[in-house]
Amino acid sequence: MIARHVGLLIALLSLPFGLRADEPAKPGDSRYEIRADHDPNGIGKFYMGREIAHVMGFGPGGQGAEWLERAVREKEEKLTLLIKSLDLKPGMVVADIGAGSGVISVLMAEKILPDGKVLAVDVQQEMLDRLRDNTKKLKITNVEPVKGTQKTTALKPRSVDLAIMVDVYHELEFPYEMLLDISKSLKPGGRIAFVEYRKEDPDVPIKLVHKMMEEQVKKEASLPEFGLKWTKTIGVLPWQHIVLFEKQPKPDR
Ligand SMILES: C[S@@+](CC[C@H](N)C(=O)[O-])C[C@H]1O[C@@H](n2cnc3c(N)ncnc32)[C@H](O)[C@@H]1O
Repeated sequence: MIARHVGLLIALLSLPFGLRADEPAKPGDSRYEIRADHDPNGIGKFYMGREIAHVMGFGPGGQGAEWLERAVREKEEKLTLLIKSLDLKPGMVVADIGAGSGVISVLMAEKILPDGKVLAVDVQQEMLDRLRDNTKKLKITNVEPVKGTQKTTALKPRSVDLAIMVDVYHELEFPYEMLLDISKSLKPGGRIAFVEYRKEDPDVPIKLVHKMMEEQVKKEASLPEFGLKWTKTIGVLPWQHIVLFEKQPKPDR
């Protein structure tokens, strides 16, 4: 039964709902490199030595969203433990970047009551519509859907206490531009959490381009223009690591 489910997971992450990258790297865009020889589960675009994965699509009939909402996800990924590890406090402004249908947003929303809110950012309108329906059904009023673009989040500068990307960063088509945007949206002392499948662990049953090494996350997030400092990596989850950075106050000039 478990093997069958893992098989399904692997099949899903080979992206039957994968979206094509809509803005491929242009010649002369030196930050990114296009290679003809690449993993079929990736988009053939490389950033800092890593191939970017296909975006997970909403899917025909919402199958992609249904997979995100699957009941067995708690058992497989221990979402409750993930949320506990985030040290959420009442009143926080949390940005769930790549929120999908809102599974993580919903779990965080209750922890930041009474006056905190989740800004649930996604590029797919169908995901945001489903997120809106899901929160309405659950009578959750502190999750706000936000439509972003491939390069921007639409979040206000210095407004966010915690930005989180669960199973998202590896599929950002423009990771540099997105991290620059997200880092600007953080308050000084605000945090960003990358939750990625551990590439170091061959037993994590996920396609390679959907996994990331901790060192690779650190390398990409540590460019000086982001002003982010690694604080800790939490290894309590069965398949993912939680790699945390803090926004540094700008040095006095
Ligand atoms: C694998 S899903 C994860 C959804 C959610 N975080 C969860 O764990 O349930 C990845 C999501 O990231 C979104 N995404 C991809 N690129 C994005 C971008 N540049 N900005 C915002 N969302 C993005 C996709 O549309 C998709 O809904």
